Amino acid sequence: MELQSVRTEPVKDGGERKGKSGTKRQHEDDDETSPSKKQATDHSVKVASHYNSLQEVGLAARSRSRIFFMRNFNNWLKSVLIGEILEQVRGEGPQQVSVLDLGCGKGGDLLKWRRGGINHLVCADIAGVSVEQCQSRYEEMKKKSHVNEKIFNAQFITADCTKEVLSEKLDDPELMFDICSCQFVYHYSFESEQKADMMLRNACERLRPGGFFIGTTPDAFELVKRLEASDSLSFGNEVFKVSFQSKGSYPLFGCQYNFSLEDVVNVPEFLVYFPLFEHMAKQYNMRLVSKHRFSEYFEEKVKKEHHRRLMMKMMALEPFPCEEVGQQTADSQQEYCHAREHCGRAGVKLPVVSTWYLCFRKSPDAENKVFFCM
Ligand SMILES: C[S@@+](CC[C@H](N)C(=O)[O-])C[C@H]1O[C@@H](n2cnc3c(N)ncnc32)[C@H](O)[C@@H]1O
Repeated sequence: MELQSVRTEPVKDGGERKGKSGTKRQHEDDDETSPSKKQATDHSVKVASHYNSLQEVGLAARSRSRIFFMRNFNNWLKSVLIGEILEQVRGEGPQQVSVLDLGCGKGGDLLKWRRGGINHLVCADIAGVSVEQCQSRYEEMKKKSHVNEKIFNAQFITADCTKEVLSEKLDDPELMFDICSCQFVYHYSFESEQKADMMLRNACERLRPGGFFIGTTPDAFELVKRLEASDSLSFGNEVFKVSFQSKGSYPLFGCQYNFSLEDVVNVPEFLVYFPLFEHMAKQYNMRLVSKHRFSEYFEEKVKKEHHRRLMMKMMALEPFPCEEVGQQTADSQQEYCHAREHCGRAGVKLPVVSTWYLCFRKSPDAENKVFFCM
């Protein structure tokens, strides 16, 4: 697989990159007029306007969407992840829990934070319209809450988290977080080293010692594997498409692909070379606690009855075979051959997915900068 053969250039203290290509990149990024700088600026604007332009659709329309089950699956996975991290944080002491939702979007995780009984939430996103919708959802949630329920306090920030320092925008300048959650967002920052580093800084610098940085991001290895197996520069199916501009060479930063998913997403994204991400996180005193593919995470969590029950309640898997003819998500029967195969054996197995679940932890000893990967 090509990505594995890419040389990782260690980042020295102070963020300067060693090696020929690293030096060149640094030089280009310092030059305001260089093409890479121009592209970087355009990209953020494009992402913001894409997400700003997405219409809020009602439940009925969402349930007719071909990505209904996929969305529910992702939400189930985030619910389990958030629930388990909150349990761990509480088990270790702090009764007052503060969370940073980095790239909060329209507030898709607000309910999860409510269920988790947190005390303070800061939501940040580059897309101003999404942040406004997130805030309205929160206000609505507060209005409709039970008299005895104490809903968390919240602050909403519109900011490009790959360029701006979030800690300077906090209402409470002393605020420290127990958790930073960055769901389906971090890959936008891998456009350049500076952007990836700023996003990481925002995620980690206000974490309490021992605090968690959790997130989900596409699996770059899987994307490259599928690209290399394709006859063209793209791959996908009726529902999603991933297109690259070239193949065979994959730069550590700025390795762009276009991801389109039904009517929901159509934006440039960037491969996150995970060993480099992990290395960069060490500079912020973060050690990797766990990293799983969605399929692995699913296999582990589904063993527990309460996770299974939640999965059913959230309708997180598409039933196969579908009771109503013609109601399957994909028209092509080819998409269901793995399910058919499993049905023939011991029963339906998990869907094919290609996303990482990640969890980093800040060192309880703020001075100690050496960590081991787990
Ligand atoms: C796929 S959505 C995920 C939203 C939310 N985390 C969730 O799981 O529902 C990606 C989000 O990342 C945000 N985003 C992308 N680049 C960003 C940046 N540079 N700074 C802050 N947010 C960014 C987008 O505006 C969008 O809301």
